[in-house]
Amino acid sequence: MRAFQALVIVAVLSGAATLAAGVTAMRPVLGIVLPYLALAVFLAGMVARVVWWARSPVPFKITTVCGQQRSLPFLRRQPLESPFTGWQVVGRMALEILLFRSLFRNTRTELTPRKNLAYQPDKLLWAGALAFHWSFLVIILRHLRLFLEPVPRMVGILESVDGFFQLAVPTFLLTDAVIVAALLYLLARRLFNARVRYVSLAADYLALFLLLGIAGTGIAMRYFWKVDLVSVKELALGLVTLRPVLPEGVGAIFFVHLFLVSVLFAYFPFSKLVHMGGVFLSPTRNMANDNRARRHVNPWNHPVPVHTYEEWEEEFHDKLVACGLPLDKE
Ligand code: HEM
Repeated sequence: MRAFQALVIVAVLSGAATLAAGVTAMRPVLGIVLPYLALAVFLAGMVARVVWWARSPVPFKITTVCGQQRSLPFLRRQPLESPFTGWQVVGRMALEILLFRSLFRNTRTELTPRKNLAYQPDKLLWAGALAFHWSFLVIILRHLRLFLEPVPRMVGILESVDGFFQLAVPTFLLTDAVIVAALLYLLARRLFNARVRYVSLAADYLALFLLLGIAGTGIAMRYFWKVDLVSVKELALGLVTLRPVLPEGVGAIFFVHLFLVSVLFAYFPFSKLVHMGGVFLSPTRNMANDNRARRHVNPWNHPVPVHTYEEWEEEFHDKLVACGLPLDKE
C-alpha cells in the first residue's frame, strides 16, 4: 500500500509534466523556473541542515569502534577500526564513504529450521547500495558534458570507459544498466522481504520510484525517443551561465526528465536522501577515539558550585590534625 502510494505520486508527477510539456506556455516553467527554484531549495535546505547538525552539541565521545584502540605499545592497534588521530579518522571516513565499509559487515538474522537464531553475512545489500551510488555518481559526472563547454577530457574518458562494450548505437552505457538493476534490487528487497517491508515507509519507496523515473526517462531519451542534444546543451549552458534560453524542438520527454530531477533536488534536503551530507557530520564516525589521552568536555556542562578536596581539607584541617590523619597540604 505504501509502495503504491509512492508509485502513484511519481506517476502523477510524470503525467503532469508530460501534459505541461505539451503546452508551449508551460515549457519555460519546466525548463527554467522550476530547475532554478529546485536548486535554490536544495542549496538553502542543505546549508540549513548542515548548519543545524554542525551546531548540535556532542555531549560525549561516541565514536563507534570495532578494533583495538591505541594502548600499551606491545598491543597491536587498529587505526582504521579505532582511529586515534585526525588522519586516521579521514582514512576511516574515506573507506566508509567510498566503499560503505560498515555496510559490508551487515548481518542477517534468521531462525533456522530447528528454531535456532542464526546470524549470517549479508553482502547483497552492500553490493546493491554500492552499485547504485557509484553508477549514480558516474552518470552525474557524465552529464557534465551538457553543462560545460569545452567538455573536460575526464568526462570523455569516463564516457568511453562506461561505453567499453561498444554495443549498439548510441553506445550502450554500463552504468545505465547497473543503476536500473540496483534500484530494482533495492525496491524488490523492500517489497518482498517481510521484515524490511514492515519498516518501510512511503518515503522509502518514493525515493526509489523517483530515481527509477529519472533513470527510466533518461534511458528512454538516449536509446528510444531521441531528443535534440544540441538544443538541450543550449538550454543547460543557459541555465548554468544564468542566461536562460529555451530552444525550440526539445522533446517532451526531456521536460519530464528535468521535472523529475527538479522534484528530486527540491525534495532532497527534507528526505532521507540527505544522508549524503549527514554522513560527514555523524559523531559516531567523525570522532577520534582518544578518550584516554584528551579530555572531552561536554558543552552542556554549566558551572556547578563544587566542594573540592582541597577546600574540604581546609575546612576540617584542625579536626583532621587532631585525629592524626594525614593531610595533602602540610
Ligand atoms: C539527478 C540527476 C540526473 C540523473 C540521475 C540523470 C539520469 C540520466 C540517465 C540514467 C540517463 C541515460 C543516459 C546516460 O546515462 O547518460 C540520462 C540521460 C539524459 N539526461 Fe539525465 N539525469 C539527471 C539530470 C539531468 C539534467 C539536470 C539534465 C538536463 C540538463 C539531464 C539531461 C539528460 C539528457 C539530455 C539525456 C539524454 C542523453 C543522451 O541522449 O545521450 N539529466 N539521464
